[in-house]
Amino acid sequence: MKVQVCIIGGGPSGLMLSQLLHLQGIDTVILEKSSRDYVLSRIRAGVLEHGFARLMREAQCGERMDREGEIHHGFYIAHDGKLDRVDLHKYSGGNSVMVYGQTELTRDLYEARDKIGGKVVHNALDVTPHDIASDKPYVTYRSGEEVIRVDCDYIVGADGFHGVSRKSIPQDKITEYERVYPFGWLGVLSRTKPVSPELIYAKHERGFALCSLRSQVLSRYYVQVPLTDKVEDWSDDAFWAELKHRLPAEVADKLITGPSIEKSIAPLRSFVAEPMRYGRLFLAGDAAHIVPPTGARGLNSAGSDIHYLYEGLVDHYKKGDDKGLDGYSQRALARIWKAQRFSWWLTTLLHRFPDRLPYEDRLQSTEIEYLFSSDAAQRSLAENYVGLPY
Ligand code: APR
Ligand code: PHB
Repeated sequence: MKVQVCIIGGGPSGLMLSQLLHLQGIDTVILEKSSRDYVLSRIRAGVLEHGFARLMREAQCGERMDREGEIHHGFYIAHDGKLDRVDLHKYSGGNSVMVYGQTELTRDLYEARDKIGGKVVHNALDVTPHDIASDKPYVTYRSGEEVIRVDCDYIVGADGFHGVSRKSIPQDKITEYERVYPFGWLGVLSRTKPVSPELIYAKHERGFALCSLRSQVLSRYYVQVPLTDKVEDWSDDAFWAELKHRLPAEVADKLITGPSIEKSIAPLRSFVAEPMRYGRLFLAGDAAHIVPPTGARGLNSAGSDIHYLYEGLVDHYKKGDDKGLDGYSQRALARIWKAQRFSWWLTTLLHRFPDRLPYEDRLQSTEIEYLFSSDAAQRSLAENYVGLPY
């Protein structure tokens, strides 16, 4: 097989890039190790920056998002038994976010690929990049017992944190920055009416909690848990009781509980690999960086990578101009690190760190008090949450 761009990974990053390039007549193939059902079974966050929503529309995949997604102009921070609202619309100069589940977004991307005949290979095993430092790279993968070779001009590693791409770069050519947090998030999905029309991020002495949603009949809730907890330690009743403890009474009293249709614990990590290019291999999305979900920057960080890479590849193939590709890593990392900063800041602000000092407790309270007393502080929070410019 010969293509212009071989994309490893059929998650949101790989799918979005392949769709955008296809619409520009650039030939790609996606090699995805899992089945489509497995990819679509993953529950992930659901807040889209306006920039990502725009990318979906540009990729001709935004129709259901615009029909079924919810535009949110603000969210709440619950603290000290009360709710304070962050007015995103006011403090971001009129911007907002789109609340639309990533699973549905990924489904829309797959359907769009099918509609225009995009090449997606599922159950592609032992995917291996070769000669990535040469001008004739290729990728091999196994389908059953058959080994197939894909010759290409460029390889895009969109294969997530545990993928093969980043690990294909020689260790002396890549630098990794990481911070692992001393807690995780226990998440529950339930077919219940959301407790609030807008998201509620709760800071509480028992730990962080989050009230989110996928639709008006599908709620998503989280509580911070110790890293030692296992999902089987948590009955639905125990989860609902703990969530209520961490919410202001006016919210807890309204909470509609129900059976969990998904329950899982996710670790929290900040991670960046630099550079995001080696030879003819480019890294994009979770393959290059990870954020704690507090700021909902995961998919949104992938969005700007894809935007920059798409622009660079189109300029290469249509104008013979490689400035975009040559500048991709530096341009992407500049925005990635701002998303890292914001995610770390919001995580530090709202979570209870097991080894914290009493001084740090007072700093957390002061930070929240300052936030809601300062237009400048709320402008900073809002511009990051709706998404910094690409
Ligand atoms: N070979 C082929 N495919 C692979 C390999 C491999 N060796 N390793 C991983 N993959 C696939 C995974 O099965 C997954 O479908 O790559 C895909 C990577 O998708 P994501 O992990 O979703 O990463 P990305 O597309 O960058 O999306 C980033 O989506 O998943 C969320 O938390 C994530 O919000 C972030 C955003
Ligand atoms: C979610 O809906 O899963 C969600 C929303 C906002 C976050 C994290 C997760 O910051």
